[in-house]
Amino acid sequence: MTAPEHTPVMPGEVLRYLAPSPGGVYVDCTLGSGGHAELILEAAADTRVIGIDCDPLQLDLARTRLAKYGDRVQFVRSRFERVLDVLSQANLNNVDGLLIDCGVSMDQLSGRSIGRGRGFSHSGDEPLLMTLDPGQRTTAASLLRDLSEGELAKVFGQVLRGGETRRVVRAVVRERARQPIERTGQFTRLLASALGKQGPALRKRIAAAYLALRVAVNEETSALQAGIADGVEALRSGGVIVVITFHGLEHRTARVAFRELQGGSTGPPRLVGAPEREAKVKMLTPKPLFPIVADRPPDKNVGPPEEHRMGVGTVTFLSPTDRPTRMSGLLRSTVWE
Ligand SMILES: C[S@@+](CC[C@H](N)C(=O)[O-])C[C@H]1O[C@@H](n2cnc3c(N)ncnc32)[C@H](O)[C@@H]1O
Repeated sequence: MTAPEHTPVMPGEVLRYLAPSPGGVYVDCTLGSGGHAELILEAAADTRVIGIDCDPLQLDLARTRLAKYGDRVQFVRSRFERVLDVLSQANLNNVDGLLIDCGVSMDQLSGRSIGRGRGFSHSGDEPLLMTLDPGQRTTAASLLRDLSEGELAKVFGQVLRGGETRRVVRAVVRERARQPIERTGQFTRLLASALGKQGPALRKRIAAAYLALRVAVNEETSALQAGIADGVEALRSGGVIVVITFHGLEHRTARVAFRELQGGSTGPPRLVGAPEREAKVKMLTPKPLFPIVADRPPDKNVGPPEEHRMGVGTVTFLSPTDRPTRMSGLLRSTVWE
């Protein structure tokens, strides 16, 4: 088996907020190849990790990497939105910390490793699957075949601009009437001609369309919503949930979930008299944290323009993998005691 290519992002921040304590139990909801899990296992004596991933190939990579920790690690093939079931089957509750590191790993994206032949990357020509769980029946090809025009517009409209979405949807509908869209090469050519751009600008838009489709195939947005809400339920009072997000859809989903968990009015911001929601968490990081890029002075830590365009109101740096990365730490509030 090849060595993992994925490097855990923001390792210092994850450890600072999870602050593993001896004997503590931590849930890594997105185990991947086990990079963050290893940091937790090394951080204090006898820490335990429940490592969840829906991709059995990732679990294999993690098993190899973490073999030396023996029964301090449990490997669970499941989806993290079922975290409460996973923990109840392991007879666990009130865990000390929980990590969700959203999306896909470099190993899944790479054509050299476990990602080969799975259709996550727009370079190359592979079956158009994009399933994080290879056993899943809904694939990118089946969505392109089965979704109505309106549903396709919803999927691509999450990340593409209005005109781009209309052109891409029209091209998909035209192409599927001629032949099924089943290969990445075919889909990439279709996008290139529909998007009408060139060079790096085109590659960016193609990558965005692939992202939109992958998020839909794996139901990543609803998974993140449920994962955060249930993850908080799994924590002991004072336990910490850390969520790492990489793109606008994830940033937004996490922000909304955190806002709800902090309680307050259930109505629009200035509506007086709307019922109050109970606070379940206290934010440890009122604003998301961003990875520090070593060769930039601290006062230039102002991140990529994409964040401004997304209207997040905060700024970030590109991570070493060129992906914008944000992290939020939450402390479960003592109101649950
Ligand atoms: C960014 S990687 C995590 C990398 C990991 N932190 C490390 O250091 O190696 C995200 C992982 O989450 C998994 N994943 C994504 N959505 C999931 C879900 N809803 N349930 C379980 N695993 C999921 C992916 O299969 C992938 O392995």
